[in-house]
Amino acid sequence: MAEAVRTIGISTGGGDAPGLNAVIRAVVRCATERHGWQVMGIRNGFDGLIWPQLCCTLTREDIRGILPRGGTILGTTNRGNPFRYASEEDGATVYRDYSLECIGNWKRLGLDAMVVIGGDGTLAIANEFQSRGLPVVAVPKTIDNDLSSTDVTFGFDTAIHVATDAIDRLHTTAESHQRVMVVEVMGRDAGWIALHAGIAGGVHVILIPEIPFTIENVCAAIRRRDEIGRHFSLVVVAEGIRLPPADGQGRPFPATRARNPAVLIGNAIGEVTGKDVRVTTLGHVQRGGSPSPFDRILATRFGVAAVELIARGEFGRMVCLRGTAIESVPLADAIGTCHLVDPSSDRVRAARAVGISFGDAP
Ligand code: F6P
Repeated sequence: MAEAVRTIGISTGGGDAPGLNAVIRAVVRCATERHGWQVMGIRNGFDGLIWPQLCCTLTREDIRGILPRGGTILGTTNRGNPFRYASEEDGATVYRDYSLECIGNWKRLGLDAMVVIGGDGTLAIANEFQSRGLPVVAVPKTIDNDLSSTDVTFGFDTAIHVATDAIDRLHTTAESHQRVMVVEVMGRDAGWIALHAGIAGGVHVILIPEIPFTIENVCAAIRRRDEIGRHFSLVVVAEGIRLPPADGQGRPFPATRARNPAVLIGNAIGEVTGKDVRVTTLGHVQRGGSPSPFDRILATRFGVAAVELIARGEFGRMVCLRGTAIESVPLADAIGTCHLVDPSSDRVRAARAVGISFGDAP
């Protein structure tokens, strides 16, 4: 198989993450210069296999200068599942299976293999194609760091830098005004960004999906600071938190996940403590902009490792970081399980030891 490789495809799917371009650059350089292969850029995730007109060969010239650039030069989407493609028809959402078109276009483009860069949803689709005989290797990405088969995903380090910088800035203004600053960070299912940026930023309360909390306990932590003369506090909220049953005054919180939970938390803290509260939602700022050096390096290593998997004919695998080494795992084993923060891990224990509350019983 290895000798048969002439042309490989590359696509980026799901939400973007800083470092995508660094992977693309590494794949193009390694594939073209070390192996003499052609690389086809597949546009907008798997949409590019449904509508291949925009796909094009990527040369060294195309990837010049993209290492420090955020986003993805290939475009991405987190809506395009070709096995269940949603579109609007006569005011209703209809779902179509475009997988046969994708397989046909894959052959028409002359692809011998494809590097798919994505998070859990994208990699599940890649695994579907692999099981239908298309040779795929995968590269994990998400700022949330919630993929189970790699210690770290690229994009996460940059997101922590952005969030920590924001927390540092909020710290000084919180202190000046003796306010409670509530900052919401990304993390749809897992609290990694909140935990890491919270520790790095020296916040006072961290609320994550993995640790149930109450508003009473959050406010108790803020009051304890008041008692020692610290009349300001910083509270980091992961967007994916499960709200407690009530708001600290006996009123129920919404049972479903709130879209902007930090606002509800901030209002509740203000009502219970009587303190001046401001809420900042960092949102997509965490996903944009230039990748950190760590993410550029990890993305480069992942890209090269993906090309080498193809060269060895090892398909259906995902590259990963284990400790300090780049390894690979079967793609089927890498999907479907969310990598959550372990509440008894040393990171959580260290945070508690330096006085950070998680809003649970002290
Ligand atoms: O999965 C990455 C992520 O950034 C989550 O943290 C966040 O909930 C989601 O994507 C946002 O997606 P969108 O770009 O569709 O708003």
